[in-house]
Amino acid sequence: MDKKYYVTTPIYYANADPHLGHAYTTIVADVRKRFYQMNDYETFFLTGTDEHGDKVARAALEKGVSPHEYASQISQKFRDILPRLNASNDRFIRTTDPEHRKVVRHILQKVYDSGDIYFSEYEGKYCVGCERFYKDTELVDEKCPDHQTRPELIKESNYFFKMSKYQEWMIDHINKNPDFIRPERYKNEALGFLREPLEDLCISRPKSRLKWGIELPFDSNYVTYVWFDALINYISGIDYLDGELFSKFWPVAEHIIGKDILKQHGIYWPTMLKAAGIEPFQHLSVHGYWLFEKGKMSKSLGNVITPLDLIDKYGLDAFRYYLIREMSFGLDSSFSEESFVSRYNADLANDLGNMVSRLTKMIKNSCNGIVPSPKKWTEPEEKLEKIAAESRQKLIESFDTLMMHQAADSAIHLVRSINRYLEETAPWFVAKQNDQDRLDTILFTASQNTVRAALYLLPVMPEKMLEVFNWFGISPKDQWHLDDEPLTPGLKTRIDKKPIFPRRKFKAKASSNQPKKSGKSQKKSQKTKPSVITYEDFAKIDLRVAVIRKAERVQGTDKLIRLQIEVGKEERQIVAGIAKSYDPDDLLGKQIVIVANLESANIRGVESKGMLLAANHGEKLTLLSPEQPIRSGAKVK
Ligand code: ME8
Ligand code: MG
Repeated sequence: MDKKYYVTTPIYYANADPHLGHAYTTIVADVRKRFYQMNDYETFFLTGTDEHGDKVARAALEKGVSPHEYASQISQKFRDILPRLNASNDRFIRTTDPEHRKVVRHILQKVYDSGDIYFSEYEGKYCVGCERFYKDTELVDEKCPDHQTRPELIKESNYFFKMSKYQEWMIDHINKNPDFIRPERYKNEALGFLREPLEDLCISRPKSRLKWGIELPFDSNYVTYVWFDALINYISGIDYLDGELFSKFWPVAEHIIGKDILKQHGIYWPTMLKAAGIEPFQHLSVHGYWLFEKGKMSKSLGNVITPLDLIDKYGLDAFRYYLIREMSFGLDSSFSEESFVSRYNADLANDLGNMVSRLTKMIKNSCNGIVPSPKKWTEPEEKLEKIAAESRQKLIESFDTLMMHQAADSAIHLVRSINRYLEETAPWFVAKQNDQDRLDTILFTASQNTVRAALYLLPVMPEKMLEVFNWFGISPKDQWHLDDEPLTPGLKTRIDKKPIFPRRKFKAKASSNQPKKSGKSQKKSQKTKPSVITYEDFAKIDLRVAVIRKAERVQGTDKLIRLQIEVGKEERQIVAGIAKSYDPDDLLGKQIVIVANLESANIRGVESKGMLLAANHGEKLTLLSPEQPIRSGAKVK
């Protein structure tokens, strides 16, 4: 079967600069396109700018330039951010393009000829911000709920599209195609609109009021209502009149939009297509808002984060990862730099990036930097293989259902499972036993699955995951496939001095009114997710067996005991917080384990040279001791 995938973003208004919300929709479309490409789909990705109408005309007037000049400047800004987002769009459409204008006039004429456009007088309340008339019932305190402004009362003769005629068809189509509008909440919202009688749509503006638009083909005194013009970009952008691209990619289109423009896409657009005798698109995929501090982030409210700032600060792929991982598609999500950094450190620096450094280092030390070939598989390898297969399956399902945050999560989950695999198989221990066959198997298996995780994350982080490949010596390829196994024995690893995802610190701005996390809750979060250290790190810790010779409470505290201990021939003093668990007298002669090379500390005015090991035991602590009495000073490995 021919596999085709056509994805679109809204065409953004050319009345203000691009912001995080626009970047998000564009990145989602890009990630989806890349994923389908990895699954052998022929793809097409369209984005662009919406340049006609009141909004743009007024913004231009304020700036003292012509609407066309103004729209061109802003359109260029939208075009310029695409490479900075690494958006792989195949085309950028402007509604001022002659080809687009031609298609709009063609569709208008077609619908007019078929009798679905009529002329009539209309009086209504019009919101300039929304560029549409409002019903009284839609207003809140007589104001537009989006812009908090009072709509203008306008009375004029206009052309109307008989949208009402398609109400039953529309309800039926949505019900028969449960994936037409998704996630389900937005399907229900659209059906909600359709429970009220659907009104006809005013699709013209008299030139006396607005000149900046596409002239109606059947009345030169009018221009086209901006939404009737803009929606048509989705077919003009694939050469509707010419036919070749159109016949390839229609109707397999997926329109990705924010929830603000559900009604236009879920109702206006399909009924327009129906009236023009064109099949409806396949999917409308609707996401929620990024919220920034309290409330929606938007141009009109002026609380916009410039996406480019964050990209420069943290790197593009980290930015893409955060947006995809953090937002459950369909729901609102709060954007904060703090959550960005903690997500980055946890998933990218600690889990994925660290795994790549560890494994390539081990391959360097134990296999001369050459990816070893696996030998005999054992149970842990089987187990990890199963987890990798599940992760891949989850990835595919998640993309099918728009749950891209789960797709990203399942790849990171695989990395965490590799971590557990390493704990279980202990390659550092195997290395000491000189069991090279076993070591080769472990290092290959762990590396192979790390590379798989990177492959699964390739649509989200197309640059950084290639860096992962590069560390493992994998050469670049034009198009990776989901079923590829990029890692093969014999590749020469290349370790870079700079980690793939260096750890980041978040510094809250002084003006931030977010309460600082208390030390306690930070400790707690560290406890729930221990960070991974390398064997080299672990090997730095000098653990020794010691004997307690003297013990007494530290005056003025109810927790501390001062211990005189013998470590081999050496005598030293340490202070331990075990007074609630032990009586000093019971400690004499006990063998314990201490960290011998810890830097000295001053605890309540008492010097402590080292730290003993004890385990939590309910409310109490219990000391760790050798299982049988042994020589004091013995090294613990
Ligand atoms: O509506 N969170 O253009 P527009 C997430 N020209 N996404 C957001 C967002 C936020 N806070 N703010 C904006 C228009 N978006 C019309 C579209 S299509 C035929 C015509 C994204 O510049 C989201 O995709 O106002 C939303 O639907 C779109 O930007 C609106 O962009
Ligand atoms: Mg908008």
